[in-house]
Amino acid sequence: MDKLMIEGGIALRGHIPISGAKNAALPLLAASLIAPGEHTLVNVPRLRDIRTMQRLLEHMGAESQQDEHFHIDTSRIHTPEAPYELVKTMRASVLVLGPLVARFQHAKVSLPGGCAIGARPINLHLEGLERMGAEIQLQHGYVMAKAKRLQGTTITFDQITVTGTENLMMAASLADGVTVLENAAREPEVIALAEYLNEMGAHIRGAGTPQITIEGVPNLSPGTHTVIPDRIETGTYMIAAAITGGHLTLSPCHPEHLEAVISKLEGTGATICVNDGTLEIQAASAIRSVDVKTWPFPGFPTDMQAQFMSLMALGDGVSLITEQIFENRFMHVLELRRLGADINLDGRTAVVRGVESLSGAPVMATDLRASASLVLAGLAADGLTEIRRIYHLDRGYETIEQKLTAVGARIWRERDQD
Ligand code: EPU
Repeated sequence: MDKLMIEGGIALRGHIPISGAKNAALPLLAASLIAPGEHTLVNVPRLRDIRTMQRLLEHMGAESQQDEHFHIDTSRIHTPEAPYELVKTMRASVLVLGPLVARFQHAKVSLPGGCAIGARPINLHLEGLERMGAEIQLQHGYVMAKAKRLQGTTITFDQITVTGTENLMMAASLADGVTVLENAAREPEVIALAEYLNEMGAHIRGAGTPQITIEGVPNLSPGTHTVIPDRIETGTYMIAAAITGGHLTLSPCHPEHLEAVISKLEGTGATICVNDGTLEIQAASAIRSVDVKTWPFPGFPTDMQAQFMSLMALGDGVSLITEQIFENRFMHVLELRRLGADINLDGRTAVVRGVESLSGAPVMATDLRASASLVLAGLAADGLTEIRRIYHLDRGYETIEQKLTAVGARIWRERDQD
């Protein structure tokens, strides 16, 4: 296993290129199952989660290769099944359920198990499919779904779910009649998926609003699509500038996907310029403490909560950080404390009292965004920080050491002997 070593205390300066968004690419890859033939995806990041989705699609009979672009041929799917071995390493595997039931009238998908950030059930995905006429049974840890042809209907989510919205939008694209999704997720990744499905011949309106209307069509044909820039990677590097007293430009990016993050960072004193797909951020001389509550898009993303906490650890006062999406997304708190942060948990709120400085220490990554928060804290800390279990980081940040090294960071990977 590898570990990351960081010698902190250097102000980062320069340009960081932003990769394609993991959470946009994964549903696009799953969507390729819905239309037999060769699909081409441009700007797919080279990440562990993408490899897992590729293995899953290949297990079903798809052929794929990633050169400059990602090519995937879904003409010869023989096993509409997602095995536990793959689903347990990546919950987004559940995104194959909707496309498989819609195209093959049956699917077998392992139930995801527990997860470091919360219980994360998939009941809303399953209830939606049942409302569309699918027969769902849970057997031996698997979801067994069957449907002659899914029927359009109205589905109101009682909680906003990103992959739930995506799964049902894909399923409804091939259903008989009109499906209306109420209280749908409005994330940019949902819009990107709707655009791709429409390019394939689907009739989807309203993606990006709480009401999405999908008129089912009998079949779809393969397409080509470019993955949007990763807004969470962008936000993470914005904080890298803010926390190290640095100055970074980041592109390509869609600043309109980051408004809540930009406005909170401005609240901390950072200066941010938005220009034609580029974000420029200059750190403040002192970091002001501000409060944050996570919320579905366009609110402050839960996927930025841990990173923002690292910044607040060095704030000039007290910051209240409230996590409203996942009940257990505070695994980074104990590790940040090892670096000298003063953080107490009160239910779903972290009370972060800013300290003068952080000091490097060995820490353990527990999930993807928690790992990113430790990298950020390590970049700002005095001395050496050692981050173990960085396979979490490799799930979602493409070439992170190279990108940070290029803007002045002292960060490298070593084999972990333990
Ligand atoms: N929920 C249910 N039942 C369901 C579905 C969701 O109770 O059937 C609950 C969840 O337990 C959670 C809330 O609803 O409390 C929202 O979960 P959501 O379904 O929106 O999360 P997700 O679709 O599983 C995606 C991202 C996550 C991101 C969340 C929230 C992908 C592949 N994953 O997960 O990304 O945190 O939306 O924005 O798009 C990450 O990239 O690090 C990551 C975890």
